[in-house]
Amino acid sequence: MKVLVATEKPFAKVAVDGIREVVEKNGHTLALLEKYTDVNDFYAAVADADALIVRSDKVTKEVIDHAKNLKIVVRAGAGYDNLDLEACTARGIVAMNTPGQNSNAVAELVMGLLVYCVRNSYNGKSGSELMGKKLGILAFGNVGRNVARIANGFGMKVYAYDAFCPADVINASGLATAVANQEALFEECDIVSLHIPATAETKNSINKALVGLMPKNGLLVNTARKEVINEDELIELMQERTDLKYVADVMPAADAKFRTLFADRYFATPKKMGAQTAEANINAGIAAAKQIVDFFTTGNTRFQVNK
Ligand code: 3PG
Repeated sequence: MKVLVATEKPFAKVAVDGIREVVEKNGHTLALLEKYTDVNDFYAAVADADALIVRSDKVTKEVIDHAKNLKIVVRAGAGYDNLDLEACTARGIVAMNTPGQNSNAVAELVMGLLVYCVRNSYNGKSGSELMGKKLGILAFGNVGRNVARIANGFGMKVYAYDAFCPADVINASGLATAVANQEALFEECDIVSLHIPATAETKNSINKALVGLMPKNGLLVNTARKEVINEDELIELMQERTDLKYVADVMPAADAKFRTLFADRYFATPKKMGAQTAEANINAGIAAAKQIVDFFTTGNTRFQVNK
């Protein structure tokens, strides 16, 4: 079988080597399409692929239409909002993710962004510390739990809310104190870190009413997806509340506007960096390769997301 790795933002070489080893050791072949800038190159590369590994690359209906032999696509990572699941299902293509494999990397970046922000982008001015601050985690999945673990090491007071994870499970983790709803989280916490997927329910859900509940000098950190933010409302709120800061690893569509209006209260990474570590690339990339090999060998569909 031919396995195509199509990554506009490539994996570290060591991860690609690991993927190749898993694929070839099991009698399959590997093709690589990295740093492509033209979607037509993706269409051409996927034409004879039996399996596909992507990161945030958009696997649209058009991609699927060009992939006549495709049987399985694995998003090497957690969020699979970049996969057209309907198009996959319509063609009988199995779609999977690799949950948990890159979550520590994202969590470490959250802390890096927070330190950068509370130390005023290292501009020489006196900043503040994270110890003793209240950190709210929305939601308590793999990334949220890792953020909680590390934030406890910083001496932060950690709170969490997750619509799908009961309060007693959050409390029993020993990592965070559960609050009743997301409003309570924003009301209570100095810093809120977003770890929700982009779904029909969550898109635009982080709005003026919610973020406006944050106490003075509130800081919102988004390493999840830009789509969960209602950008127009956040801009409006930050114009009214000149104490609020926003820091993101998922550059807003209105990045230029945020930068112009809130020069010292806003920062976004130029490219999504959360999962961009050798370790996360190895974990997620090799997991994806193993899941594909296992699917072809035994029919295992454990991580299928379009069941
Ligand atoms: C994920 O959902 O796993 C992260 O957002 C990582 O995305 P990336 O593979 O594009 O870095």
